Amino acid sequence: MSVSPPPSHSEPQAAPALTLTDLSWSVGGATIVDRVTMHVATGEFIAVIGPNGAGKTSLFNLVSGLTRPTGGRILLGGTDVTTERPYQRTRRGLGRTFQTSSVFADLSVEENVDLAAQARAGGSHRFWRRAAAAGGLGTTEVLELVRLDHRRAATAGGLSHGDKRKLELALLLARGPELILLDEPMAGVSAGEVGELTAVIHAVQRERHCTVLMVEHHMEVLLDMADRLAVMHHGELLAFAAPETAMADPDVQAAYLGESL
Ligand SMILES: Nc1ncnc2c1ncn2[C@@H]1O[C@H](COP(=O)(O)OP(=O)(O)OP(=O)(O)O)[C@@H](O)[C@H]1O
Ligand SMILES: [Mg+2]
Repeated sequence: MSVSPPPSHSEPQAAPALTLTDLSWSVGGATIVDRVTMHVATGEFIAVIGPNGAGKTSLFNLVSGLTRPTGGRILLGGTDVTTERPYQRTRRGLGRTFQTSSVFADLSVEENVDLAAQARAGGSHRFWRRAAAAGGLGTTEVLELVRLDHRRAATAGGLSHGDKRKLELALLLARGPELILLDEPMAGVSAGEVGELTAVIHAVQRERHCTVLMVEHHMEVLLDMADRLAVMHHGELLAFAAPETAMADPDVQAAYLGESL
C-alpha cells in the first residue's frame, strides 16, 4: 500500500537542523536545564553564552546524547532523536569536539586524521574509499581547511594548544558532520592563537555549510561570528536573538550584573 504524501506544488520547507522543545534535565533534585526551546536553521552559527554553571555544557550533553533528558524533545533535521544513543546521533551527522584524550599523542597529525576518517567510513556503513565521494573530506583537504597541513608529519602530542584544538576540529571534520557542537574551543589557547583559531572555525562553517553551536567566553570573537546568541542562566534560555538584540535585553543585562562574560 502506498503512503506517499500528496504532490506539492511549493518547495518543501527544510526542517531546522536542530529543534529543542521544552528540553529539561534534573539531577539530585536540582534542575540544571530548564525547559529550553530553540529552533536552529541549517547553516546558522549560534553562540551559547551564560555565566559559569548556567547549564551550557549540560545542554550539549543532552543534544549529543551523553545524558538523557528528564523532559522535552530533541529533533535533528526533523527526526526525533530524544531516546537515541550518542553513536546513532553521530551517524545522523552530529559532531562535537572530543576531549584531548581522543587525540593519539604518539601518532602524527596525519595518522590521527586518517583514523578518524576510517571511523566515519565504518560508522556509516560506507566503504573507506567512498567516504570522500559521499561528502566527507580527504585527510589533505581537512588539514588544509584547519590550516594544519604544514604540521601533518608532526607528532600530535607535541603540538601547541592552539594546534591541538585545530587537530580536534580536523578529527571532527573527517567524520563529515552537519551539526557541530563546540564547547569552549579556545580554552587553554594562547591569546596569540585565538584569532587564527577563530578564522579556522569561521571557514569551516562557511565552506562546509555546517550548522554550529559554540560555547565560548571570548565575547569579542562571538559577536562577529554569531548569527544569534543563546543566553543561558540558571538552566533557562534567557534570550535567543541577534547579538545586539540579545545583549540589549534587560534580563540578559541583569543576569550578567557584576559578572564578567
Ligand atoms: N552530573 C551532574 N550532577 C549534578 N550536578 C551537575 C552535573 N553536571 C552538572 N551539574 C551542575 O549543573 C550546573 C551547570 O553545569 P554546566 O557544566 O552545564 O555549566 P556551564 O554553563 O557549562 O558552566 P561553565 O561555563 O563553567 O563551563 C552546575 O551547577 C553544575 O554543578
Ligand atoms: Mg561548560
